[in-house]
Order: sequence, then C-alpha cells, then structure tokens
Amino acid sequence: MAESKSFQDQVIVVAGAASGIGMETARLISSLGGSVIGIDRSESGLGNLQDQVSSPNLNTRIVDIADEAKLKTVITEIASRFGGIHGLVNTAGIVGPTNIMAEQLSTAQIEETLRINLYGAIWMTQAVLPIMKRAKYGRIVHVSSIAGKEGNPGMTPYNVSKAALIGFVKGVAKEAATEGVTINAVAPAVIQTPMNADTGDETLKYMVSRIPMGRLGQATEVAQLLAFIVSRECSFTTGFTFDASGGRATY
Ligand SMILES: NC(=O)c1ccc[n+]([C@@H]2O[C@H](COP(=O)([O-])OP(=O)(O)OC[C@H]3O[C@@H](n4cnc5c(N)ncnc54)[C@H](O)[C@@H]3O)[C@@H](O)[C@H]2O)c1
Repeated sequence: MAESKSFQDQVIVVAGAASGIGMETARLISSLGGSVIGIDRSESGLGNLQDQVSSPNLNTRIVDIADEAKLKTVITEIASRFGGIHGLVNTAGIVGPTNIMAEQLSTAQIEETLRINLYGAIWMTQAVLPIMKRAKYGRIVHVSSIAGKEGNPGMTPYNVSKAALIGFVKGVAKEAATEGVTINAVAPAVIQTPMNADTGDETLKYMVSRIPMGRLGQATEVAQLLAFIVSRECSFTTGFTFDASGGRATY
C-alpha cells in the first residue's frame, strides 16, 4: 500500500482484530487513514489494540461471531453509527480440534469450528452485503487457509471450514459482481502469530520445510495483502483466493 491516506473517509470492519493477522491489519489500515472498527470476542486483546493505535479513528466492539443475532446487530449498529461500511476484513477464526481422526469427532466438535470459521463469515457477509449494495461499493475478504486447499490430517473441522470459505466467496462474488461489491479470500500457509504459539517445534519445522521460501510468514505480510484486497485499487478481482504461502501453493 503506497499511499499514506489511501483509506481516508472509508469505514473498514476488521473481525478478529484482537490478535495476530487481524490486529496487524487493523493497525495498518488505520495508519493509512481508514476509520477502523475492530470486532472480536477478546476484550483484553481489543484493549491492547486500542493502546497500540490510540487514534480516534480506531473503535472496537466486543462480539462473539458465533452468535448470529448479536453479530448482525453489531454490524447494523456500526453502519448507522459510522455512515456505512466500505470494507470487511474477516480474520476471526479458531484451529479447533487437532490430532483427532475424522471418525472420532463428535458433532459438537465439528459444529463449534464451523460456527466460528464458516457460519460467522457467512453471517457477517449477509449483514454487510445489503449495506454495500445500496452504496454500490464494497470490498469483502475472508481469511481461509492452505488447509482449505490441501487438508491437514487430524484437523477435519478446520479443513472443512476453510475449504467451504473458498467455495462461499466464489458463488457470492458472481451474485454481487455487477453491484460494485467484490468478495475474495486469502489462503495463508503457516504465519507466526499467537495461533501457533502452542505448535510443537517438530510440527513447525515440518510446515516450514514445505514452504519454498523456507521460513514462517509474518502477520504484517498478510496484513499488507488484505489491505490491498479491501482497497479501492483492487477493483477487477472477485471470487478469487489469493495465496500468502511463501511459494507453497502454486495453484
Ligand atoms: N497463523 C497461521 O498460521 C494461519 C495460517 C492460515 C490461516 N490462518 C487464519 O488466519 C486467521 C487469523 O489467524 P491468526 O493467526 O491471526 O490467529 P489469532 O488466534 O492470533 O487471532 C484470531 C482472532 O480471532 C478471534 N476469534 C476467534 N473466535 C472468535 C469468535 N467466536 N468471535 C470473535 N472473535 C473470535 C480471536 O479472539 C483472535 O483475536 C484465522 O482465520 C486463521 O484460521 C492462520
């Protein structure tokens, strides 16, 4: 993002802004002049974000995106309070169960991950689409994962949620294509964030060994890509899944 005020007069909602990729994205877009509303279920994490940015252009809302009614109420309130929503960056997500074979998963375990990673994404998209269509302008991006393309063993709910997001943006993109609204996804490989704080050294080494650049990605690198995708300049790409994988994905 070259222009220092490229998000001037734009209202951008960043879901998952209390940590990792979402926090970096909220910081970056507010530094580029955007009016950012960070939403997350972590009150303490949103407090950290407020401390770091300390700008009147950054506001926060505490909400669990697995709660459809509350999520939609918050999005509607944001749009009326700030005069619309120009962009939505959704980075909120959980890893869910790991090291559990598909046949051993309970329905409750599958549902928890889907409610956050998939339904939460669908519900916030449903809430912003009418607002953006009325304005004849909008940019939406959801963070998927390389797991949605390749599948990680022992992580069925996560794989399913991230693959489904890729399909979701493809269809909605076509529905909104003539309305001035774009919707895309980003599929990162392993990124150094709190999400991986508990990942063992051996697992991390294995993940890095599959990345041609031979290193972990940084949250700031994904934030730069997300900021571009929700900028005015990213105007002729919709329904696409961008990679942030250090060369791992070439398809
Ligand atoms: N870190 C990686 O290696 C990696 C790789 C590929 C994809 N991703 C995806 O990128 C996104 C961001 O991941 P991150 O690494 O920054 O993780 P993170 O754990 O640092 O941040 C995720 C944020 O989402 C919020 N969140 C989780 N559930 C929520 C809910 N129900 N309601 C509201 N907020 C909720 C958390 O509170 C947290 O602030 C996720 O969707 C993740 O699946 C991450």
